[in-house]
Formats: sequence, structure tokens, C-alpha cells
Amino acid sequence: MKALVQHGYGPPKSLKVADIDTPAPGPGEVLVQVAAAGLGADVWHLTTGLPYPVRLVAGLRRPHQTIAGLDLAGHVTAIGEGVHDLAVGDRVFGTGLGALAETARARADKLALLPGNVGFEAAAATPISGVTALQALRDKAEVQAGQRVAVLGAGGAVGSFAVQIAKILGAEVTGVCGPAKADLVADLGADHVIDYTRSDFDTGAPFDAIIDTAGHRPLRVLHRALTPRGTAVIVGSETGGRWLGGVDRQLRAALLSPFTTRRLGSLIAAEDRAELETLAGYLAEGRLHPVTTPAENLEAAPEALQRWTKGTTVGRTVVTVQ
Ligand SMILES: NC(=O)c1ccc[n+]([C@@H]2O[C@H](COP(=O)([O-])OP(=O)(O)OC[C@H]3O[C@@H](n4cnc5c(N)ncnc54)[C@H](OP(=O)(O)O)[C@@H]3O)[C@@H](O)[C@H]2O)c1
Repeated sequence: MKALVQHGYGPPKSLKVADIDTPAPGPGEVLVQVAAAGLGADVWHLTTGLPYPVRLVAGLRRPHQTIAGLDLAGHVTAIGEGVHDLAVGDRVFGTGLGALAETARARADKLALLPGNVGFEAAAATPISGVTALQALRDKAEVQAGQRVAVLGAGGAVGSFAVQIAKILGAEVTGVCGPAKADLVADLGADHVIDYTRSDFDTGAPFDAIIDTAGHRPLRVLHRALTPRGTAVIVGSETGGRWLGGVDRQLRAALLSPFTTRRLGSLIAAEDRAELETLAGYLAEGRLHPVTTPAENLEAAPEALQRWTKGTTVGRTVVTVQ
């Protein structure tokens, strides 16, 4: 099968398409014939091994996982031992081990059935970014109908899901993005759009919740923009730092939060079937429309990942695999 492989850490162009053996599913796993796969921050971190603490998990000298990619959508083609809730032929989406390949292994509990009216490209955009947005809004910020929510990075992968899910939860949403993405964010349903090159998001304050996916604003700015019982969820931001890579604020937020009535928290999203099923419902009902930047095949994926580093992509980049 064709797969996008990496044998060492390096820039996006170090990813190469190669012919390799089709994997076999392990216990609790299935094989998925991948129709489409997502890429963005996650694939970039694992390809480059940056920031360095990534390597403590992914492999110190070289990546343990040589096939790139996590988000996927496709058909189940084989079932591993102990899997009783999926069958060959099922349309599924979720996260796998080496999604940027014609066939990928995936843990069955990291997949959900894909409703027949949802396309593979939309589905492949959803697992990591959609679950992250859902958990940030619903579980961390506990957003209620009528509350005021700011989404920083509203035209990005997580942010474009966060705007839409916050609206589904009944919030009044302020989307913060650069000028090129302002129309898109308005189309996603944001009640207010702030172009951060003209004025910053705190002009719309106070907010009951801030979902922070970009811009690396100081904690005091987030704190000041919250209502007295408000919550900021720091999802992430890219600073290019080789050691902390932007997570310094999450560490300081954990230290500061006990001393204030406002909650400053962070999130490590965990995709599982229940979360994917919630999102599958929204997709099937037409309430959630993933924003995607397309890449036409596996060969185009390294260049697409390079484009993501320039900040010119909208939503999640999705590679049509076959
Ligand atoms: N904690 C977790 O479990 C988790 C899960 C997924 C992702 N993440 C992290 O979350 C971050 C966002 O991920 P993503 O996939 O959504 O990235 P992304 O697709 O690159 O989106 C980031 C967006 O932020 C916008 N932006 C840049 N500077 C900004 C600023 N100053 N203010 C507001 N918006 C700004 C960018 O475009 P414009 O400037 O054109 O608007 C871009 O659309 C990354 O650091 C990623 O690693 C964490």
C-alpha cells in the first residue's frame, strides 16, 4: 500500500510517499481503508519532533510511528481480536495509527460510525479538532445557553469547530481572526467578528468563556476579559519555541488559577467514541459544517503541511487519499 512515511524527525518535506506492507490489526483494532485524512498542528509536531518534549512520547531519537497522520475516515476492511461492535464494510471516522496511508490500523474505541449523509472529507476534518472544541466548550468551560463566548483563532481547525459548537450550545459568539478569515467566521454563525489586526478581542469583553487556540496572549489579558466567574480554556498556540512551543501559559495558568475566582485552565483533548458520536449527530443533522482546505492526494500532503505552517490554510487540511 502507499503511505506517507518518516524515518526521522524533520521538516514537512522529509515526509515521503512509499510502498509498504499493509498492516494487520492488533487486538482491539480494526483496519480502515482510508478515504480521507486530516493534517495540521498534530502532524507537524510529530513530523518535526518539536517542541522537544513531544519526543518523550513519540520516540527520543526517531519516531516510533513511521506512518504519519491521526485523523481519518473510510471503510473498515478487517477486524482484530476482541472487536465486536464494528464490522467489515462499516463507514467510520476517528483517529488511527498512520492515517496518511491507503490502509490504517485504528483502535475500535477511537472510531464511530459515520452517518450515510456525511462525506469522508468532512468527517476526516472532525476527530481531533471537533472533539477538542467540544471538550473545551462543554466540559471545561461548561458553556450554557445565553453565555458570551470568545473564540480566539476562529478561522482555524479547532476554532472553526468551536464557533459552530458554541452556537449549537446556544452561546453568543465572538470570533477573533485575521482579515482573510473574517467573512468565513461570520458565515460560520459568529454573532460578532473581531479582526485582531484592527482591535483585539477584549474590546468585546467581558466573556463567560474564552476558547484560546491562537495568538499566545498573556494570561493577564485573558483574565481581564473574563466575567468574575468566567473560564478561559487554553487549547494551544504556536510560538515556535523548541523547548516549550507555547505551553508556558498552560503551566502558569495552573499555578495562578487557585488564586482567582475566574478559571484559567488548559485542555488535553481525548478523542473517544462517545465524543465522535455527538459530533456525528451534529454533522448528520446539518448543524456542523467542517471547514476544510483540500489536498488532492498523499503526494500533495507534505506541501499541504508546509502551507499550514504559513497560516494560510482555513479550518483543517484534509487529504483525499483514494
Ligand atoms: N489541547 C489539545 O488537546 C489540542 C488539540 C488540538 C490542537 N491543539 C493546539 O491548538 C492550537 C490551534 O490548533 P489548530 O489546529 O486550530 O491550528 P490552526 O488551524 O493553525 O488555527 C490557528 C488559527 O489562529 C489564527 N490566528 C493566528 N494568530 C492569531 C491571533 N493573534 N489571534 C487570533 N487568531 C489568530 C490563524 O489564522 P488567521 O491569523 O488568518 O486568523 C489560524 O486560523 C495549536 O497550537 C495546536 O497544537 C491543542
